[in-house]
Amino acid sequence: MVIPHHRTESFLSWLKSWPGISYNFPMNQNELKRALSKLPLGDVRYFDSIGSTNSEALAWATDGAKDLSLVVADEQTAGRGRLDRKWFTPKGTALAFSLILHPTLGEKPYLTRVVGLAALAVTDSLRIHGLISQIKWPNDVLLNGRKVAGILVESIWAGEEVDCLVIGIGINVLKGAVPSEELLFFPATSLEESLAPNVAREKVLRDILAGIIALRPHISSDSFINSWEKALAFRGEQVQVEQGNGSKITGELVGLEPDGGLRLRDETGKTIPVRFGDVHLRPGK
Ligand code: ATP
Ligand code: BTN
Repeated sequence: MVIPHHRTESFLSWLKSWPGISYNFPMNQNELKRALSKLPLGDVRYFDSIGSTNSEALAWATDGAKDLSLVVADEQTAGRGRLDRKWFTPKGTALAFSLILHPTLGEKPYLTRVVGLAALAVTDSLRIHGLISQIKWPNDVLLNGRKVAGILVESIWAGEEVDCLVIGIGINVLKGAVPSEELLFFPATSLEESLAPNVAREKVLRDILAGIIALRPHISSDSFINSWEKALAFRGEQVQVEQGNGSKITGELVGLEPDGGLRLRDETGKTIPVRFGDVHLRPGK
């Protein structure tokens, strides 16, 4: 079928509105511009395909990007999680973006909380769309107990000080974004499995960015830590933290340390802080 150019957008909206039909179209740049137009962002770079939005943002930050500059991509060919583990972002199915932050002097003592800032903005934005999600400490967001989003915060140092942070967020929007089970260490899901297929990626992106911007001035407060704690998956339950060296810590997940580290309680009632690092949180003993 040939679609007259000026009618393409309304045709796509019509097609997307059909129940049960998934669509894999690249991100609509007009909708993206419209969605982001009211946010106080720096500059925005959009790519149909890129290696990793975090790599692009780190290079751009080194090259003088303004605070709140944004890199968005429709597809990542070398998306990554912590310690260079792979993050899959197939074309037309997901949200993948990186936001550059130049922390103020007041924010600098609280930079370990930035992963919580991003995670809370994701859970808040999903709530706007009627979805209740939880944060699997430190960097994942779960929907119905399955991973729907991952966060990777990276930093650029100037001597002893962090000069710049990049918050990278990946969200599985359509079912096609979810990798096959054998590639995963933790079960995954997509927004489509809980919402209608016509989830507007641009609007979810806008809501997350608006959330980060709104929460940022509160990052140093106790109420920020309280909100982050309330959103944690497995709170009050027995969990296991596997460390990169193979050792395991077991206990009840009671909350967070002031720096955003995890606080467990063992059988004797002793509090065990778990630091950020190569750690994997899992439910149960
Ligand atoms: P976990 O604690 O769940 O093991 P993690 O937060 O430690 O994961 P990373 O270590 O940063 O995650 O690595 C990313 C992991 O995410 C990969 O090892 C892969 O299993 C998983 N993954 C990759 N792409 C996706 C995706 N699109 N959706 C869900 N999970 C993914
Ligand atoms: C995780 O493993 O859970 C973190 C995944 C982070 C993925 C996002 S997608 C946008 C940005 N670019 C990347 O290469 N990684 C992050």
